[in-house]
Amino acid sequence: MKRTHIFAHRGASGYAPENTMAAFQKALEMGADGIELDVHLSKDGRLIVCHDETLQRTTNGMGWIKDMTLEEIRQYDGGSWFSEEYQREKVPVLEEVLDLIQSTKTLLNVEIKNGIVIYPGIERKVINLIRRYALEERTIISSFYHYSLVESKRIDPFIKTGALYVAGWLEPWEYARKIQADALHPIYHNIDLAFVEGCRSYGIDINTYTVNEEADMARLAGMGVAGIITNHPDRGVSMMNQL
Ligand code: G3P
Ligand code: CA
Repeated sequence: MKRTHIFAHRGASGYAPENTMAAFQKALEMGADGIELDVHLSKDGRLIVCHDETLQRTTNGMGWIKDMTLEEIRQYDGGSWFSEEYQREKVPVLEEVLDLIQSTKTLLNVEIKNGIVIYPGIERKVINLIRRYALEERTIISSFYHYSLVESKRIDPFIKTGALYVAGWLEPWEYARKIQADALHPIYHNIDLAFVEGCRSYGIDINTYTVNEEADMARLAGMGVAGIITNHPDRGVSMMNQL
């Protein structure tokens, strides 16, 4: 059985403002195997790392990312909402995160945030950047918007894809195979041995979110999920060291 990877959800977002360089840096310091982040496209076509479609919740600005240039987005403080200590954090672009991890062995889970807003061509932009940094082998592209996964596979069948969903699907491994996804990314609550076996029999990995308690992490790692996505990567790393 392969070792379960610990992914820092939006960086080490339990300890630093989500989707900031501080949160990604902290994830690396905590020994996370990988980082998960969310991407949108700005008005001038830059890959903006942010969870929401707007800046309101996680910066002191407001407005839709799709309607703003990078320069406009960068004027805002992306950290004070979490703690004053982070007031100098800016909303990152994907290149900055790739610069950070390029010389490490860190895995990357890029969630394409198509859905509420549709960003034409975002899949190709993500893949071009992954290729420029030669990170194809370390990257998985995930999305709740599965057309983005199909499009990503069409552009580069070598880069892994993971289908995000909440719960309640029957035999989702059949669906994963149909859309050529390498992994399913379900919420963790309903994962049991039958589910793990179903995925295993189809060669589909499981990366599950958002698992923040060590007991849940241990249960899931014990069943052999490929990845655990958590706001508290230190807990995941500690749990894995105890197995
Ligand atoms: O990758 C799992 C997780 O990020 C999905 O939900 O809303 O945190 O992007 P969300
Ligand atoms: Ca996400």
